[in-house]
Amino acid sequence: MDSVKGLVESNRLMSSIPSKYVCIQCPEDSLYCQSDVIVPTIDFSKLTSCDPSERSRATQQLGDSCRDWGFFLLINHGLPETLRDGLVRACVSFFNLTEEEKKEFQGSSVSDPIRCGTSFNPNVEKRLFWRDYLKLQVHPRFHAPTKPPSLSETIEEYCEKSRAVAEELLKGISRSLGMEENSIYEKMNVRLGTQMFVVNYYPPCPSPELARGLPEHTDHGLLTLLMQNNQDGLQIHHDGKWVSVHPPPNSLMINTGDHMEILTNGKYKSVLHRAMVNNKAARISIGTAHGPSLDTTVAPSSELITEAHPPAYRGITYRDYMLLQQTNPLHAKSCLDRIRI
Ligand code: OGA
Ligand code: NI
Repeated sequence: MDSVKGLVESNRLMSSIPSKYVCIQCPEDSLYCQSDVIVPTIDFSKLTSCDPSERSRATQQLGDSCRDWGFFLLINHGLPETLRDGLVRACVSFFNLTEEEKKEFQGSSVSDPIRCGTSFNPNVEKRLFWRDYLKLQVHPRFHAPTKPPSLSETIEEYCEKSRAVAEELLKGISRSLGMEENSIYEKMNVRLGTQMFVVNYYPPCPSPELARGLPEHTDHGLLTLLMQNNQDGLQIHHDGKWVSVHPPPNSLMINTGDHMEILTNGKYKSVLHRAMVNNKAARISIGTAHGPSLDTTVAPSSELITEAHPPAYRGITYRDYMLLQQTNPLHAKSCLDRIRI
């Protein structure tokens, strides 16, 4: 399957997009987007502060954001700007390899630890998305392409540092639920947790209103950390409307995933989001998804089960959940719905 980048570069004068990229299921009103609503911001330095009252205020805000939005912007997270800029550059140079060179890292099945390709899952989906990607399993074992030369090293450094941020966030989330701060880390066996690294490359699109970078979906796992180059495109679903996110340059976008929703018995939701495309410049987003270890059975936590809130999901190992998802087209909450009681 040809990459979108290859398609754009071989048709520089393209004025309309091939029909398989046209998003026919998108009624016009789904493009309607609220711009006056602002996604909450959490200050990481306050969440990890030694001052107990500052920390507890930030913990409270974190809990409110996870409950009301399933999404927040994280500032003062300590991931160096030079590392993030270097990572974007290294990822661009991966997509700039020839199609032939990239083929080596294509992978043959969804369980391959290194995969690159286009759209989401062209074997399951009928239409195509305006997106090329590189997807890696980076924990508990680290995998990365051997080309271009410094890519692997840069990704590894970023992944380690982002894992440390995710672990602090899991502590904050445990506290916000009234649990001991290592509770989620231990229950989910995060020491051997699954971390995935994904780069999305969205080339400029001549008909941005007709195509989608990624359709609406939720992420599996506990938390996703997302950064981007200087192009916006992420929209999240909030109070029945789509909200565009304009993250400040140094922030990370964080969302709670399906397994956080299961673990918290629905208290913290896995929120729908999608990626729009533009006709000006390529957009790159880089996500790390942090989940339980593959053999951990994730079920609603006993602290969050009451008579008024009986268990709303059946327990399932992370491995089986991923298998379930991989056989599904990527849309709306299909996978969570399959384990809802
Ligand atoms: C994803 C995702 C959004 C974006 O990779 O799961 O939702 O803005 N990406 O690229
Ligand atoms: Ni996502």
